[in-house]
Amino acid sequence: MKTSFLVLLFVSLVSFVLADGLEIVPGATWTVPNTGNHLQAHGGGIIKIDDTFYIVGENKTAKPGDNLFQTVACYKSKDLVQWEFVNDILKATAEGNSDLSPEGIIERPKVIYNEKTNKYVMWMHVDKPGYGYARAGVAWSDSVCGDYTYVASYRPLDKYVSRDLTAWVDDDGTGYLFGEDRPTGLVIFKLSDDFLTIDSEVYNFNEHIESPAIMKDDNGVYYVLGSQLTGWAANDNYYSTAENIAGPWSTIITDTATGSKTYQSQSSYVQRVGKTFVYMGDRWSPGNRAGLGASTYIWLPLELNTETRTLNLTWYDSWSIDPRTGDLSFPSHKVYEAETAELENGATAVQADGFYQKGSGVVELGGPENGKLTIEGITKSVKKGLTSILIRYKNDQNVTAYGKLKVGNQKPVRVAFNPTHPQDPWNSPTVNISVIHGFKFPDRVQSLTFEGLESVNVNNTADVDSFLINVW
Ligand SMILES: *[C@@H]1O[C@H](CO)[C@@H](O)[C@H](O)[C@H]1NC(C)=O
Ligand SMILES: *[C@@H]1O[C@H](CO)[C@@H](O)[C@H](O)[C@H]1NC(C)=O
Ligand SMILES: *[C@@H]1O[C@H](CO)[C@@H](O)[C@H](O)[C@H]1NC(C)=O
Ligand SMILES: *[C@@H]1O[C@H](CO)[C@@H](O)[C@H](O)[C@H]1NC(C)=O
Ligand SMILES: *[C@@H]1O[C@H](CO)[C@@H](O)[C@H](O)[C@H]1NC(C)=O
Repeated sequence: MKTSFLVLLFVSLVSFVLADGLEIVPGATWTVPNTGNHLQAHGGGIIKIDDTFYIVGENKTAKPGDNLFQTVACYKSKDLVQWEFVNDILKATAEGNSDLSPEGIIERPKVIYNEKTNKYVMWMHVDKPGYGYARAGVAWSDSVCGDYTYVASYRPLDKYVSRDLTAWVDDDGTGYLFGEDRPTGLVIFKLSDDFLTIDSEVYNFNEHIESPAIMKDDNGVYYVLGSQLTGWAANDNYYSTAENIAGPWSTIITDTATGSKTYQSQSSYVQRVGKTFVYMGDRWSPGNRAGLGASTYIWLPLELNTETRTLNLTWYDSWSIDPRTGDLSFPSHKVYEAETAELENGATAVQADGFYQKGSGVVELGGPENGKLTIEGITKSVKKGLTSILIRYKNDQNVTAYGKLKVGNQKPVRVAFNPTHPQDPWNSPTVNISVIHGFKFPDRVQSLTFEGLESVNVNNTADVDSFLINVW
């Protein structure tokens, strides 16, 4: 008994320390260390099991054809920041059910757990190019990131079409599907006991809302967040509240960041983390040269007022959350300008007027000699633990760029950089930051080196403006 208590205490102290210097940077390139690529969990949702978060979402890597079905990917994390790829849990295939065809479309996969059958059930929007097929598809697995068995797709109750949907489980174990019916609007359906079929209609909002995300506060009040229907382009998202899931639901309210188009994002999911509800949205980038796979994640803490039943979404360039308690903190950064670094192997500092307000230029790296830069003397006044590094960059190329970052004697990591071409016609601005996590800054001084990645193409490296390391 005594031992297990001590072990628990130790584990929780460690996880507290680990969370210290890790940052969520909305809109940035989020490299996953074990794929070396930007997180592919677009239109995704979270499911938490014990102390682990799993994210399941759309992999939109391939271009052209980036809106067609490739895989549904599953990643895991204990802190919502450091993600590890686990499995492609549903894959496009030319055989079997044509819903999974590589010429088809699978969007907004959401996994829920059924306590009665002990199975994980995935609901998803199943479609074909032109979006006229408009069905809700279902699959199941014995483990959250295991291979899923596809069952079927439905037009709910043979009455409605269904596009951008979500699945959600209430505290009493009842499963619900929220589907978007184009003629009438957002509809709530009750799922069967095994969650594999649609049982009955619960409520029709008669409002055109898609991409719903559900949350419930400590008073048992339900909130549904959703977007208007403007294709890939962002809009001011809506929300509505109710004491009973069957209604009446309040008149829809434009989110409190009105005019910002929900910070150029579309709602996808809300995850409760301790006392905090986290808004998770997608900033779609159909015009990005790297395609929809370069779409970024806008995750922000929701400020909830349970008395007035209002939600407020404030923008933070970066923020930190304790994964157990939901305590928030907002780091400030020490900036290390790339042009003040030691440059070798043909790395060149160039003026880039107006590119960034701070600092006068960027450093061109990679190239035929694989130019690199080294910054010495990095110190960090920090509680010990793991830290994120933010890299401000420019990538005018047509494709994702890569580089190799090494801190002190720690293992070098590959870092991805979504394109930031200024002339791209997207309506979703790129945050020119790539963020990478997990570095240790003990009390002694560290150095940092950044260079091209020969295994990819040393010429295909981002130009670097500066490195930002948090100070607390
Ligand atoms: C995503 O799909 C691509 C092919 O389009 C595949 O190479 C990759 O392994 C898939 N999974 C992830 C997580 O990127
Ligand atoms: C939302 O938060 C911002 C920043 O904290 C604050 O200025 C604003 O008054 C809040 N709005 C509402 C409706 O609570
Ligand atoms: C990089 O560019 C240089 C000069 O344009 C060229 O000689 C070299 O072959 C290129 N390297 C790769 C890996 O493409
Ligand atoms: C980059 O993309 C632009 C616009 O699509 C195209 O005109 C150009 O040829 C591409 N360049 C390369 C090197 O692929
Ligand atoms: C991102 O980079 C592009 C150039 O690649 C630039 O036009 C744009 O202003 C930058 N955005 C920000 C927010 O700095």
